[in-house]
Amino acid sequence: MKLLDIQSSPRGESSDSITLTTSFIEACKSASASIVVDTLNVWHERLPDFDHEAIGAKYKAVKRETMTEAESKVWERIQSLIRRFQNAHRIVLGTPMWNFGLPYKLKHLIDLVAQRNYLFTYDGKQYGPLLNVEKAVAVYTRGSRYLEGTPIPPRFDHQAPYLDFWLRLIGVRDLRSVTVDNAWNRDRQQSEVSLAKAKATLEQLVEWFLTSSRPTAAGDETDLRIEGVLDGIRS
Ligand SMILES: Cc1cc2nc3c(=O)[nH]c(=O)nc-3n(C[C@H](O)[C@H](O)[C@H](O)COP(=O)(O)O)c2cc1C
Repeated sequence: MKLLDIQSSPRGESSDSITLTTSFIEACKSASASIVVDTLNVWHERLPDFDHEAIGAKYKAVKRETMTEAESKVWERIQSLIRRFQNAHRIVLGTPMWNFGLPYKLKHLIDLVAQRNYLFTYDGKQYGPLLNVEKAVAVYTRGSRYLEGTPIPPRFDHQAPYLDFWLRLIGVRDLRSVTVDNAWNRDRQQSEVSLAKAKATLEQLVEWFLTSSRPTAAGDETDLRIEGVLDGIRS
């Protein structure tokens, strides 16, 4: 089973999101010897700029036009990133919230790999997924807590809703999201409790994550969604 491990924090061993996803992956590896992990850390990857040449390549790829040498070069690099998504049977993605959204390097990766006819289809009317990722786990860490009836309600959250949407759009069929509020705030004890709770929640997802269910036809995704029974999980 090939697992794509996407890390989005530049904080290395100090990172809450990397610590949580790494301990989840270690638990998966202990439970199953067949797991092969491909770690894609967006800060270490030296992602190419999504610049004039890259956009030229993107449009020419859709229209099947001949690329310049510079466009072909960046397109080959983009293709090698896309192949890592295409090879994945499972995805584990951890990310901090930055300014209510994603760290720009994670968005950079998304802009590079989210190519029509590779990760998704679009016929002018509707989108369809092209990946075949049966299950994924997303870990969202953030310093605050986003609660209805407070000065920072859930609509301030442009991190988890966007990534949940994007992962499903490209073909993740069953997604469990573990949201870690208060991961970094003035009350360190509150942060510790929140992180410990997330670690325990992730441990409970190991068995589900490693089990393969029946093959699902594209378009069935909503049928697979089960309301999370654990605190902090959305599914
Ligand atoms: C540049 C930056 C921006 C941040 N913006 C927010 C934010 O808008 N809302 C929030 O709740 N936390 C914010 N935080 C806090 C982080 O989301 C939080 O500390 C998270 O746990 C960090 O995860 P990591 O340890 O994996 O990097 C921000 C942190 C940084 C460094």
